[in-house]
Amino acid sequence: MIPFTRRDFARRTALVSALSYSRILGANDRIRVGHIGLGNQGATVHSQFLECRNQQTAAVCDLQDDYMDLAVRKAGNSPPKYQDYRKLLDQKDVDAVVIATPDHWHALMFVHACLAGKDVYIEKPLSLTVVEGRKMVETAERTSRVTQSGIYRRSQTFLKEAAGFVRSGGIGHVTVAKSYHIMNDWPNGIGRPPDSAPPDAKKWDQWVGPAPMRPYNPNRTFYNFRWFYDYSGGQLTNFGVHHMDVIRWCLGQDSPRAVTAMGGRYTVGDNREIPDTMEVLWQFDGPTMVVFSQYNANASPGNIQNAEIELRGTKGTMFIHGTRSEVVPEKVTEMVKFARSPLDRQTERAYGPSKKALIAAKTAHSTDDRIGHCQNFLDCIRSRAKCNADVLSTHLSTSATLIANIAYRTRSYLEWDGKAERFTNNAAANQYLSYNYREPYRLP
Ligand SMILES: NC(=O)c1ccc[n+]([C@@H]2O[C@H](COP(=O)([O-])OP(=O)(O)OC[C@H]3O[C@@H](n4cnc5c(N)ncnc54)[C@H](O)[C@@H]3O)[C@@H](O)[C@H]2O)c1
Repeated sequence: MIPFTRRDFARRTALVSALSYSRILGANDRIRVGHIGLGNQGATVHSQFLECRNQQTAAVCDLQDDYMDLAVRKAGNSPPKYQDYRKLLDQKDVDAVVIATPDHWHALMFVHACLAGKDVYIEKPLSLTVVEGRKMVETAERTSRVTQSGIYRRSQTFLKEAAGFVRSGGIGHVTVAKSYHIMNDWPNGIGRPPDSAPPDAKKWDQWVGPAPMRPYNPNRTFYNFRWFYDYSGGQLTNFGVHHMDVIRWCLGQDSPRAVTAMGGRYTVGDNREIPDTMEVLWQFDGPTMVVFSQYNANASPGNIQNAEIELRGTKGTMFIHGTRSEVVPEKVTEMVKFARSPLDRQTERAYGPSKKALIAAKTAHSTDDRIGHCQNFLDCIRSRAKCNADVLSTHLSTSATLIANIAYRTRSYLEWDGKAERFTNNAAANQYLSYNYREPYRLP
């Protein structure tokens, strides 16, 4: 089994790489999938895989026996159950794994899976830090793994069309792209349960994994871990990474040049660490300003269409909803604006009507198609083609949100070198690009 201890790691890593197992799959062979993490999202994705062609559940892994029992019943073929994912990775007949554990576990599990010769479907956000994400990209490349992330929007056909339209200049120069996470958590949010002894010390240790050991608090575990920085980047990386990915796709840009953020825990009375109110601004080439607005103490719509994302171009605005996009044309005049005198106002009537729309209104729709996103992963395992949401594109989108959290936490305006993956104007901020894992965990 893959060891966590530093001493044994180098020897074992070389061995695992050398022995890693990859089956040559025929067109009719079933792909055998191991599912690691079967909570809220893991159970959903498992159901989606069960709807796909030519696959079967080969093994399941979670800290919760009852979650695994449910998955086994759904799979209908009695796959083995493990509480330690390394045992699942040792199972030779597992071709691919789905990882849907909390974010702080993603990097270790992903890298170990690649080294064990498994193709990997990994939930978003890709990682807890930028350095982890880059390591994941490098390991997947080095071991020739097929990778897909849970950014299922990359498989939605309406978004493919919308992104292509924006990139081709369809709405003109996009000067501003905004996205929103809006819900009213006031007054009590996730509550304020006291710290206590863990119900099961071994499982708590396994949950915490590489993160710092803290007193047990139920809010640090199932689902609510999102509100704590040891395990997650908060709503900025939870929802924000989906939005940032769509915006990067539309703009055709890899990385921002600069980022700043403001906000805080203004009013919700729970024990969260992440802000309930936040505004993030990124500068991209284009030039385009990108904004993420997290309003979690008021649920009024962010824009006139209550769309998740809006792209404001010189010729039109594209509003992006869950399963559709809509372009609303701008009306412009080529007349140069001038300081109007009372006499000019006599002819002003001509000014308004001369404005005209330069593009046509346009809509696009498709289904949510999350099963198609899983099928895309399975199809690419056979063809060895790149998946719609591969590890590199997900790393770039995740990194943009992770550096925004660093700007928020250091109260800074940060300039970013996307190639070197370093801040260029604030050496101290660079220390937040990684963290020291708790012993004995180590990223190979
Ligand atoms: N793609 C999407 O739209 C989407 C939606 C929701 C969640 N997610 C992502 O899915 C991931 C999980 O989120 P969730 O809401 O399902 O959380 P959750 O708390 O409901 O589930 C996490 C599961 O991981 C298990 N787990 C924790 N540590 C483990 C370990 N060491 N070994 C094995 N299992 C372990 C837990 O027992 C739990 O069942 C997160 O990264 C989240 O961002 C993605």
